[in-house]
Amino acid sequence: MTTSTSPQGTGDTTAAGPGGGARTTKLAIVGAGAVGSTLAYAALMRGAARTVALLDVNRAKVDAEVLDLQHGIQFMPMARVEGSDDVAVCAGADVVVVTAGAKQKPGQTRLDLAEGTIGLMRRILPGLVEVAPDAVYVMVTNPVDIVTYAALTFSGLPPTQLFGSGTVLDSSRLRFLVAQHCGVAVQNVHAYIAGEHGDSEIPLWSSATIGGVPLLEWPGLGGRGPLTAEARGDIAREVVQSAYRIIEGKGATNYAVALAGTRIIEAVLADEHRILPVSTLLDGAYGLHDVCLSLPTLVDRRGAAERVEVPLADDELAGLRASAESLRAVARRFGL
Ligand SMILES: NC(=O)c1ccc[n+]([C@@H]2O[C@H](COP(=O)([O-])OP(=O)(O)OC[C@H]3O[C@@H](n4cnc5c(N)ncnc54)[C@H](O)[C@@H]3O)[C@@H](O)[C@H]2O)c1
Repeated sequence: MTTSTSPQGTGDTTAAGPGGGARTTKLAIVGAGAVGSTLAYAALMRGAARTVALLDVNRAKVDAEVLDLQHGIQFMPMARVEGSDDVAVCAGADVVVVTAGAKQKPGQTRLDLAEGTIGLMRRILPGLVEVAPDAVYVMVTNPVDIVTYAALTFSGLPPTQLFGSGTVLDSSRLRFLVAQHCGVAVQNVHAYIAGEHGDSEIPLWSSATIGGVPLLEWPGLGGRGPLTAEARGDIAREVVQSAYRIIEGKGATNYAVALAGTRIIEAVLADEHRILPVSTLLDGAYGLHDVCLSLPTLVDRRGAAERVEVPLADDELAGLRASAESLRAVARRFGL
């Protein structure tokens, strides 16, 4: 059974119905845990999709999350929420976001989660692709770069159609910290984290800008100085460590990842042509092959449509290669 509601009781709104109703957008979220349910909330609050479907093996949990979200629909942009432990709830989705899996425990790295998660992807991907063959798939489950690589293998989908949320979250952490240090609005900072969503990730300082000024030439403002090498190092370490600190304190990270995920979903559903550092399969960019990692990429209705060739400094290129090597080694360790 599927728990569902429609504000007007009109049934499925995802396809032209007998009355000729317009086709609307459907977002399916696999995993109704801390990340999946907060992602549903964020997507609903932003009106990202008309139908939001949650799938989780834990029936009691998914039913409870759906009910709670349904009770808030009056206060959100028009939407319908449904949920089930049956994959059929994802049928016809335009975007499928995968958050199912074990969460990191305090002290665990994302790579520690790899083995169980790869097995999970092997089990769930074929059924999802069967009911939602045309959806764009966004992998969020960690270790996201390995999971994305595995999911491409198990789903048979092209890399444009299936990619990982990658370092969209890490880049927003970076921008927040730079903005805080410089005393400017976070929206004035343009900077990306590339590589692994994890310990080997690298900030692309050489292409970063603040209010149109190259970050490395930022003179300082309002009595605050420039971003010295020491300050940049502290910020880069804080970006890597902050997830561990949040997990220590409350057991999961959920708000920022949900908003980062919603930004990706919006870029797809609204065909935004937005440049986001998502994790995609590399096919020769920067001399790297056969590994999924994050680089600034054009995201639109097709999915991860095209990679942007950002100029890299020598140390950034070396960092990216090291990140690719470490990810490739993990993938091989798990037989991928
Ligand atoms: N990529 C990122 O930026 C990012 C950020 C935060 C968390 N994460 C990852 O997201 C994942 C989820 O984290 P969480 O805190 O929500 O964990 P959680 O334990 O709260 O939720 C996971 C949910 O997945 C469900 N699940 C397990 N197997 C399933 C299956 N076969 N089908 C459907 N549902 C299934 C569980 O029942 C559970 O409700 C973790 O891997 C975490 O590391 C990624």
